[in-house]
Amino acid sequence: MTLKFEQFDNHFGARIHGLHEGRIIDEQLVTELAAGLTEHGVLLMRGEEISPNRLVELGRAFGELEILPEPDKRHPDHPEIFDLTNVRKDGAVVDFEEPQAVFLRGTERWHTDSSFRKVPCLCTMLYAVEVPDAGGETQFANMYAALEQLPDDLREGVNGKRLIHSYVYSRANNPGRMDPMSPEEEAKYPPVSHPWVRTHQDGRQSLYMGGHVSHVEGMDLDQGRELVEQVLVAATKSEFVYEHHWAEHDLVIWDNRSTLHRLRPYEISARRRIMRRVTVAGVDPVR
Ligand code: OGA
Ligand code: MN
Repeated sequence: MTLKFEQFDNHFGARIHGLHEGRIIDEQLVTELAAGLTEHGVLLMRGEEISPNRLVELGRAFGELEILPEPDKRHPDHPEIFDLTNVRKDGAVVDFEEPQAVFLRGTERWHTDSSFRKVPCLCTMLYAVEVPDAGGETQFANMYAALEQLPDDLREGVNGKRLIHSYVYSRANNPGRMDPMSPEEEAKYPPVSHPWVRTHQDGRQSLYMGGHVSHVEGMDLDQGRELVEQVLVAATKSEFVYEHHWAEHDLVIWDNRSTLHRLRPYEISARRRIMRRVTVAGVDPVR
């Protein structure tokens, strides 16, 4: 091992040491990063300034990079980087109700990234350029632990069921009005179905869900949504959660196969929060 993973207190998440800017990304490092991600779920690299080029390079260490469905949010020089910012192109901070703010506030629901794809992503990397000094934390929930400790009645409820994930549905249910997607873009993202209990390569199982899902396949719409809500509440109890308090230049990498996350509210129309995001494509369908 050439990298060191220093576990966070509750054995969910770890800080990485040894991944400094000049470090060449070779096969050994790629193997260690993949193993570290699978083991810890959330990885933090702190105190290193990371250029957009290096961010893309670090992302590629985990796999192919996704291009996200929102063309106007892509970084001008790197389409693989998504600019997650409440600062408008004209330099002003967004209004609470404008589409850019509504889009960002959509991440305040518990979710896992790009589950609307047939093969959802592996992990997301978020790099902090500028962060507010209050609010705007990101919470992560461990879906291995959540499934393990799910009460029996809920466990029975999820067993064998599949959830329908839909980009169009999830976007339309954001807490405000967004600019409509073009019909051509919409047509690219038909709803997909994934098992609620996910079996990973090593045989371990976790919940795979979120507050962003459309409904339970084959179940009455309202009853299904009610069940999703109940399971979500049980799965995101504080003992399964790590809350990240951002510092400038933090890079956080999370495993979307086995964790959920959400943004905590902040004064979105008063405090600047500028993040760069890279999403690493998955390789296996959800089983
Ligand atoms: C995301 C996301 C949360 C945050 O980029 O997918 O959910 O804290 N972000 O910005
Ligand atoms: Mn997200």
